[in-house]
This record gives sequence, C-alpha cells and structure tokens, in this order.
Amino acid sequence: MNGKICVIGLGYIGLPTAVMFASAGFEVIGVDTNPNVISSINSGYPHVVEPGLTEALPHLVAEGKLRASLKPEEADAFIIAVPTPVTADLKADLSYVREASQSIVSSLKLHSLVIVESTVPPGTTDDIVRPILEQTGFTVGRQVFLAHCPERVLPGKILRELVYNNRIIGGVDDISTQRAASLYRSFVQGDLLLTQTKVAEMAKLMENIFRDVNIALANELVQICDSLAIDALEVIKLANCHPRVNLHQPGPGVGGHCLAVDPYFVVERAPEQAKLISLARQTNREMPQYIADRVLKLTAGIDKAKIAVLGITYKGNVTDMRESPAIDVIEILEQKGFNVKVYDPYVDHSAFELVNRREALSGAHCALVLADHSEFKNLDPQLLKSLMSVPMVFDTKNCVDLKDPQIISVNLGTTTDVISRINAALREAAAGDEAS
Ligand SMILES: NC(=O)c1ccc[n+]([C@@H]2O[C@H](COP(=O)([O-])OP(=O)(O)OC[C@H]3O[C@@H](n4cnc5c(N)ncnc54)[C@H](O)[C@@H]3O)[C@@H](O)[C@H]2O)c1
Repeated sequence: MNGKICVIGLGYIGLPTAVMFASAGFEVIGVDTNPNVISSINSGYPHVVEPGLTEALPHLVAEGKLRASLKPEEADAFIIAVPTPVTADLKADLSYVREASQSIVSSLKLHSLVIVESTVPPGTTDDIVRPILEQTGFTVGRQVFLAHCPERVLPGKILRELVYNNRIIGGVDDISTQRAASLYRSFVQGDLLLTQTKVAEMAKLMENIFRDVNIALANELVQICDSLAIDALEVIKLANCHPRVNLHQPGPGVGGHCLAVDPYFVVERAPEQAKLISLARQTNREMPQYIADRVLKLTAGIDKAKIAVLGITYKGNVTDMRESPAIDVIEILEQKGFNVKVYDPYVDHSAFELVNRREALSGAHCALVLADHSEFKNLDPQLLKSLMSVPMVFDTKNCVDLKDPQIISVNLGTTTDVISRINAALREAAAGDEAS
C-alpha cells in the first residue's frame, strides 16, 4: 500500500498499530512525547513487551518503513492512540487527546484522515477533536476526514487480534467512514463494522462495562453467599451449567487501564441513568478491603502475621500493574500492621519491595494469591510446607490447584464460619507449640 501514516502515541496500542501499518506497506512515522520511547524504537527495540514485536520492529526500522519522532509530520492519515486516564475526581482526562489533536493541526493536508483510537467518552471525537482540526480552516467531512475506530485487543495477543478481530469504524460522515475502512482493510481480516462516531464510542465503552458489571455481580454473590454460609464458587460452577448463563469469576477487584477506567466515562456523561454501572464500580473497588478483612480473620491472634503476596499485576501472565487491585490490598494489609512480602515473576520494579518466591514464603502465615500467573497453578506443596510457618494459601483468583490435605486452602467460596474455624485451629496449634 502507498501512503504515509503518522501514529501519535506509541504505547501498548500505538506501537503495534504502527508495526501493522508499516508491515502492510505504508511509510509510518510514530510520534511520542517520551524521548526514551523514540530512541528505543529507532534502535529497533520495542519498549512494550508484546509477542511478535521484538521480531517485527528491527526489520521495519532497518528497512526505513517505520521511524519514530518527537514531532508529527505531514501525512495522509493520523492515528491518535494516546492515554485516556481518569482524573482524581473520576472524570475522563482528555488532556492527552486534546494535545495530540493540537499537535497534528499544522501537519494536516488536503484530504488527510484523522482516526481517534483512544477510548473516549461519547461525543469526544465530534465535540473536542473536530473543532481542533477545523482551526486549520479545513472543514471536516470535506477537506479532511475524521473517525473513531476503537481498540478491543487483548494484551499478550495484540498483533494477532489487530488482524483477526472485527473492528468498529465510526466516521463523522459517510466519506470519513469509507476512508477509515479502506485504511484498516490493508491488514484487518476481521469484519469492518461501519457506524456513526458516537455509536462507536459508546459500543467500545459498553464492551468493558459489560465485563465490569458482571465481575461486580460475581463479587456481590461472594458476599451474599458468605452471609448465608454458601460456597459461592460452587454456586457459580453449577449455575454456569445452564446453557444460557455465564456468571463471571469473582476476584480481588478489577484492574487494568480499561475495565477499571472506562465505566466512569459513561457515568460522567449520564450520571442519573448509569446507576448499575456506577454501583458495579463501587462494588469492585471495595473488593480489596473485603480481601484484607478475610486475611485479618484468617490470621487473627497470630502475632506479627507475615503475608506472602503472590502476584501483583492486574491479571495473570502480564507485566502491567495499572490500576491493579493488588496494590490496594497490600496497602490495606500494611496499614493493618501485617508484615507483607511481595513476589511477582512478571514485575521487576514496583512501589513495593519485591523479593523472590522463597523469601516471600519463608515464615509466612498465609500465601495470598492476587494474580493468576500460570506459575501459581502448580505451587509445590512440599515447598509451602517446608518454608511457611502455616501452610495456608488464600487463592483470590481460584487458580491454584492444591490437593495436599496438609495445606489449608481458602478461596472466595470459603465462608466466614469456615474461616473462623480455620483461625481457631491455628490459634490452638500455636498455643500448643508455645506450651511444649
Ligand atoms: N492497552 C490496551 O490494551 C488498550 C485496549 C483498548 C483500548 N486502549 C486505549 O488506547 C489508548 C492508548 O492506550 P495505551 O495502553 O496504548 O497507552 P500507553 O500509556 O501504553 O501509551 C500511550 C503513549 O502515548 C504517549 N503520549 C502521551 N501524550 C502524547 C502526545 N500528546 N503526543 C504523542 N504521544 C503522546 C505516551 O508517552 C505513551 O507512550 C487509551 O485510550 C486506552 O484506553 C488500550
């Protein structure tokens, strides 16, 4: 394919997208405000860990098909893939989208196409991006074109999903939609779903809201079952045998920069109507406190209990810690005076001191699993028994497969009455140890 594409924002989404367009034959300029990102990419090293990038990037850079720069350049198409976090008062922070849009104004030419890939509140593309582009004197829909084409890729499979996922294309008018569709057709093999901009913006948000609300339902179920002394995980397993029921799995909360953030974009725009969405967010945000309370009950009476936290990323087998509920769990436990040791095989630096697995488990009274990394599925029972003060695993992700009767296994199906019995037995054993 001919033509020049300028991708603004070279993170988890922008860099793989730039690689796909360059592989499809376009000349691609990747733009980022972070000079380290620019030098890393221009040396052929992706700063984003994602399967396939390390193989693809050096060739594209060496062949001159992709290069990175701090400044946008004149191009046929611009893809905006900058962050859209929430502010402290839980409103969409659109400053990056505004800055990115502003930064391309002087590089627009007649018939340039601008695509917003960042996830945004409904109305943003039309109400915020369009007026910025029209500062040029060009009219959107006539001299330049504009569309919102949201991303729905799964970290860890981004390059594959960019090609095979169906893709929503929401132009501000028919020509913009058609132009955006023909651009993505250069590498997308999934269906291109053509629609209006606001529908595209809302559809993307609802995909994540659907999951957040369903996880909140599972987390609420855990608390209901706890109060009724019923095993919630067993309930979920059985209910899901119904051919049209798919209860989600409960957990320590919801993390990542999408599920834990995007619902607020809708709450902000329709606060009166988005009652369930808002409540789901609150339920999921309260889960770290619920988990910490369970740990407190399990270890009550044990002097200076040591907790080995296993996994702090927002989900299994990734390095990403953004909005991870594990951070809140650890902070609450530390405030409560626990001696917390943190181990995560995917993270090499964090706000918490990280130790190796052996160090985390040594002398611990509870191993608290907060991320479902594959490594934790088969925790070695002998290691747990030999290192821990109490061989107890509290698996908040229901991912550990432990069948050893000498190991105390707790999960989100374990109700308070059972936890109280476990705690009473532990205290009794501790008293016996002291007496002997
Ligand atoms: N990561 C995902 O899995 C995913 C999935 C779907 C949608 N999204 C959405 O895609 C968007 C981008 O997310 P991400 O995960 O790639 O973010 P990211 O933080 O990984 O990357 C964003 C990059 O943009 C750069 N940047 C910020 N302002 C800039 C500017 N004005 N000009 C140029 N560069 C700028 C940053 O330095 C950073 O490198 C967000 O709206 C996000 O919600 C992400």
